Amino acid sequence: MKLNDEYKVMIESFDMNGLGVCHLDNKVVFVENAMEGEEAIIKITSIHSKYVFSKAIEILKKSPHRILDLEETNKLSGEADLIHVDYETELKIKENKVKTTIKTDSNYKINPIIKSDNPYNYRNKVMVPFGEIKEDDEREVVYGFYAKKSHNIIPIENDILTNETSSQILYLIQRYLMLFNVSIYDETKQKGIFREVMIRNTINNDFMVVLVTTVNHDFQRLVEMLTSEFKEIKSIYLNINSKNTNVVLSDDFRLLYGSPTIKENILGLDFEVYPASFMQVNHNQCEKLYEEAFRMADLKKDMNVIDAYCGMGSITLNIAKKVKHVYGIEIVPDAIKNANNNKIINNISNATFICGACEDEIKKLVNKEKIDLIFFDPPRKGCAKEFLDTVISMKIPKIIYISCGISTAARDIKILEENGYELKEITPCDLFSKTSHCETISLLNLKNDRK
Ligand SMILES: C[S@@+](CC[C@H](N)C(=O)[O-])C[C@H]1O[C@@H](n2cnc3c(N)ncnc32)[C@H](O)[C@@H]1O
Repeated sequence: MKLNDEYKVMIESFDMNGLGVCHLDNKVVFVENAMEGEEAIIKITSIHSKYVFSKAIEILKKSPHRILDLEETNKLSGEADLIHVDYETELKIKENKVKTTIKTDSNYKINPIIKSDNPYNYRNKVMVPFGEIKEDDEREVVYGFYAKKSHNIIPIENDILTNETSSQILYLIQRYLMLFNVSIYDETKQKGIFREVMIRNTINNDFMVVLVTTVNHDFQRLVEMLTSEFKEIKSIYLNINSKNTNVVLSDDFRLLYGSPTIKENILGLDFEVYPASFMQVNHNQCEKLYEEAFRMADLKKDMNVIDAYCGMGSITLNIAKKVKHVYGIEIVPDAIKNANNNKIINNISNATFICGACEDEIKKLVNKEKIDLIFFDPPRKGCAKEFLDTVISMKIPKIIYISCGISTAARDIKILEENGYELKEITPCDLFSKTSHCETISLLNLKNDRK
């Protein structure tokens, strides 16, 4: 077997991320954009000792659960790798991913996945890279998303995950860049000005636009064009990032227009959001996710609670009125600034926000107060071991672990189980429809003999 070889195969199953799986020459073959039960011609794209990656180049026998042909799938799968799979099959793939990843001795319950009523056009945040194509003396500015495992931009033709207004804003920015001949950053040559655009929107229909560039540049004309065309735009920032890095946003935000924040509402509370503050990308599913976490938490008026990795305080403030006191810990200073403002806006007095790394800051709470419950909602890389060690030493009776990275959650849950905790139940939540990512909420209790 060698690279680019083609084979006719039957796809035996899905892997946990929804790739097709078959076998050739005693190796497991993962097939992009092919579905269980399909017959396909595949092309080998990379070869390893025990497994091989490939992509489908022709579907000979189509699955009844396929909703998009291969040509369309190839165009869109960089942004949404389960775009070709019907929604019921997508949910089964995600439930199966949770079952196969969380391996534990506990006799825990897996609840049915929390479905989305709207698996398309749900994203309230887009980060869109810009590029340019030069032919003879003509240049075309393009924008889109990166093709899988590359920095080649695939132009967005129609918006599948985001909304119509964001698409129109992007189109206007592209026209402006062409018309005013603004150079586009070329990461191989490390030359050029314009890099990316971030657009955020809220349930109140407030939009925030962040223009990411390598140097300061006068965008007054663009700001006028955007704000006269789109009344929903409440805030425009410039973010200057001169580093050659995969991290899109630097700390250098400069407000070009409007308000420094936009307003979100989550479960009846108002939240101001700065561009650097984390906000869940799917508003409706976020509310269902929190409600499920609060059900598991069984909040009581006499509880002291920690909300670790709290962002702008959306969990912290939503539980404050139901408990005695809640501490929110978060590393991004702007998110904590938002959280403290959000506390005032919502007239809450029993929440304390702490700015710093959870692994350091939680130590300061060890001898302060008896903590009854802790929420963790870390980024995809999961919790720092040092943080888990402190939680274990504090003998906190109940943990609600919200995770967007199932394999790191499995790793952390194992550590907690080896140290006196028992996984009781886990609920998958479809926060990232049409992609193979799956959010989970887990409940762990401290076993009786450890209390
Ligand atoms: C998945 S978000 C969750 C935020 C919040 N719970 C929510 O639902 O909006 C993870 C948050 O953890 C923060 N973070 C990342 N590493 C951290 C650390 N070591 N200590 C504290 N916060 C951290 C990020 O800035 C981000 O706001």
